Amino acid sequence: MDKIVAAFPKGRLFEQTIDIFFNSGILPEKIQPQSRKLILETDKFKFLLVRAKDVPTYVEYGVADIGVAGDDVLLESEADVYRPIDLGIGACNIVVAGLPESKKLYESNPTSIRVSTKYPKIAKSFFMEKGIETQIIELYGSIELAPLLGLSDFIVDIVETGRTLKENGLIVIDHIRPSSAKLIVNRASYKTKSKKLNSIFTKIENFLNKKIEVV
Ligand code: PRP
Repeated sequence: MDKIVAAFPKGRLFEQTIDIFFNSGILPEKIQPQSRKLILETDKFKFLLVRAKDVPTYVEYGVADIGVAGDDVLLESEADVYRPIDLGIGACNIVVAGLPESKKLYESNPTSIRVSTKYPKIAKSFFMEKGIETQIIELYGSIELAPLLGLSDFIVDIVETGRTLKENGLIVIDHIRPSSAKLIVNRASYKTKSKKLNSIFTKIENFLNKKIEVV
């Protein structure tokens, strides 16, 4: 039987993704990544456990039929994928942050600033719309270190609980946009495997609607 291949993000979205697929009745049991195995299989599915940032690539190129990715990752990747369902998980905000003393600089309409981020495209286009030239310093993690070490006055990053900013003495200076996780689908699979995929969409939507009623 032709299995549906799903790319699941390792990291902060993993457990909530598994919960949705399990509670929707798609997964017969909660998959546990106990080992370093990166491909897990059930009767009907093959699950690829990939880095969150890589999910859109696997789906766009059709290696996976579906995947789960946050708006932050999707905006940055610009992958051409279909996005039928907002899963309502991984809610966070994409923001500009910095040390409290940098707020004045930000509000003084600077023509050019230096920004550290793991979201270079999002940052660049946000500041371009404001007419601010940016020198982007791309980092891959612990972005909050940049203003503390004088690497840049500003960072563009996601804020979920706000704890990382707070514990490092940083504040939100501007809001870019909210972000939440989406179910994404390969455009060709959407046509060729429509029956199976539509049944998955219905199960997930039914579960999400039930969740909303309970809340
Ligand atoms: C993300 C983000 C912030 C933090 C925000 O990093 O880049 O650093 O989470 O979350 P909070 O508002 O709940 O504190 P992540 O945990 O993905 O690790 P990283 O620094 O290695 O990218």
